[in-house]
Amino acid sequence: MCGIVGVISDNAALKAFNGLRALEYRGYDSWGLAYPESGGIFVVKKIGQIGKAGTDFSKSAGIAMGHTRWATHGKVTEENAHPHSSMDKSIAIVHNGIVENYAELKSELVSKGYSFKSETDSEVIANLIQEKLKTEKTFEGAVRKALLELEGSYAIVAMRKGEEKLVCARDGSPLVLGVAENACFAASDATAFISETKKAIFLEDGTMAVLNKQLKVFETKTGAQLKAVPKELSWDFEQAQKGDYEHFMLKEIYEQPRLLKSAANQPKDKMEKFVSMLRFAQKIYFTGCGTSYHACISGAYMFSSIAKTQVMPVLASEFSLQENFVDENALVVAVSQSGETADLIEAINIAKGKGAKIAGIVNVMDSTVMRLSDATLLMNAGPEICVLSTKSYTMQLALMLLLASYVSGKEEEAKRLLSGLSTGAAKILESNSEKIKEIAKGLSRAKDIFVIGRKNAFPTALETALKIKEVSYIHAEGFAGAELKHGTIALIEEGTPAIVLSTSQTRKQVASNAIEMRSRGAKIIMVDSIPHPDFDFSILVPDFGEANPIALVLPMQLLAYYIALERKLDPDKPRNLAKSVTVK
Ligand code: F6R
Repeated sequence: MCGIVGVISDNAALKAFNGLRALEYRGYDSWGLAYPESGGIFVVKKIGQIGKAGTDFSKSAGIAMGHTRWATHGKVTEENAHPHSSMDKSIAIVHNGIVENYAELKSELVSKGYSFKSETDSEVIANLIQEKLKTEKTFEGAVRKALLELEGSYAIVAMRKGEEKLVCARDGSPLVLGVAENACFAASDATAFISETKKAIFLEDGTMAVLNKQLKVFETKTGAQLKAVPKELSWDFEQAQKGDYEHFMLKEIYEQPRLLKSAANQPKDKMEKFVSMLRFAQKIYFTGCGTSYHACISGAYMFSSIAKTQVMPVLASEFSLQENFVDENALVVAVSQSGETADLIEAINIAKGKGAKIAGIVNVMDSTVMRLSDATLLMNAGPEICVLSTKSYTMQLALMLLLASYVSGKEEEAKRLLSGLSTGAAKILESNSEKIKEIAKGLSRAKDIFVIGRKNAFPTALETALKIKEVSYIHAEGFAGAELKHGTIALIEEGTPAIVLSTSQTRKQVASNAIEMRSRGAKIIMVDSIPHPDFDFSILVPDFGEANPIALVLPMQLLAYYIALERKLDPDKPRNLAKSVTVK
């Protein structure tokens, strides 16, 4: 969602702009930049993509900040884009999050003579700081006093006319600081400054920082200074680059064979802790949103079949249904690429409130989900820049497979399976690529695409449909094969494409579902380990047993990618979508 960058450095404006470009993947509809100029604060705001903007910014600015906005409060307009200035233009702020009491604060400020230009909740922060400066001696003091009045969630960066410093704070929205020689950074995520430094300080909720040539961190409530020791980031700048690939989506799909090879390399102590929590829990819930939720369903199938352990997959946004049953004997496994998804954080807080233990499976180190978890395993997928989850999904599945196998003492089998799948994955992508391009041509003209699978291929059907929808904007629906005759078959007509995910376990039943659809005119794309000459197309995926959900999804990700290309869409920037969904 919204992205924030703050820079203290030489050529700060250009560095802030480059930071915004690195955050583009989070999804946005407008952007803006602020830096000191001619004794005041120069603010530029634009609707649309950064890519089309020039970079003729002042080179002399030593501080700058920027923002990519994903509209929540108010339409996509330049007025609503950040940075927002205080009425007297002495303060500028960028904000990520929601000020829940903004209406009350605004009317109080209006009664004191303040006027507002935007429809956003964020603008109140700038005016509130201006107001606090009437009684506070320092800029940071005024920011702190303003923050104490905010309800909701925020990550902010603020600057003041005539001061060579940035004041940043977080409470409920991510903010990470970067420390380099003669430079400091603040950003929603470290990709914004990873080209400059790998030394990062992950701010805690309820803390703020003052950045000038030095960096100091404080507790917002008391103003007391806190010790802040930078950590070394494990991600590299190169990992966040497209390299020779045309799109990040394609690059990330093709990274999967390599990642599968090292998926089992988890720190022993972390794995043991996670596994013992799984063994001792009386009830286990897997929860997440979107693609991560699909991994939860797949994981539940794996735990049932490999570990003979019951797991309840629950949509994080609907976790309240379980509220009355979660207690101190329950374990909630929270699955998230970003570790910042608001619906998931709410589910975690519900579960924690009931005394449950939380085990996180996350990709982003030090993310909120990781901090809220009693134990965490990292996906080690590296930065996922494409808005669509691909490699993080297969890494989630690989971890589920490993965990289910560890719980039942079959970890060596799982490691062998993943290692074989790593080589197999490269072959699946390579051998099917041309055929997938051809199938994508036909599918790119479809109105609807149906995807079915049974047993552990059922969540893969859901995930396939989601990938197609997100990237190609074609309506796609995934469901369990047997559900077809309970309603959806009414939509099958001459030429309707249907993708059938078949495995050796489900082949007979799912083939009969395919025949039912073909009899009504459907064009069938069979995905299986054996060819199906009776149907229109076959995509061949060797049988990987319990790892089939990983093997089957690979060509489906590639298919979604090529459908988007056929439709002349940018797979890395699907409309209306944000990478990390930090609002409920
Ligand atoms: C789909 C996709 C989303 C995310 C969902 C949860 O491609 O990316 O459905 O899976 O928003 O995000 P995380 O995993 O960051 O919690």
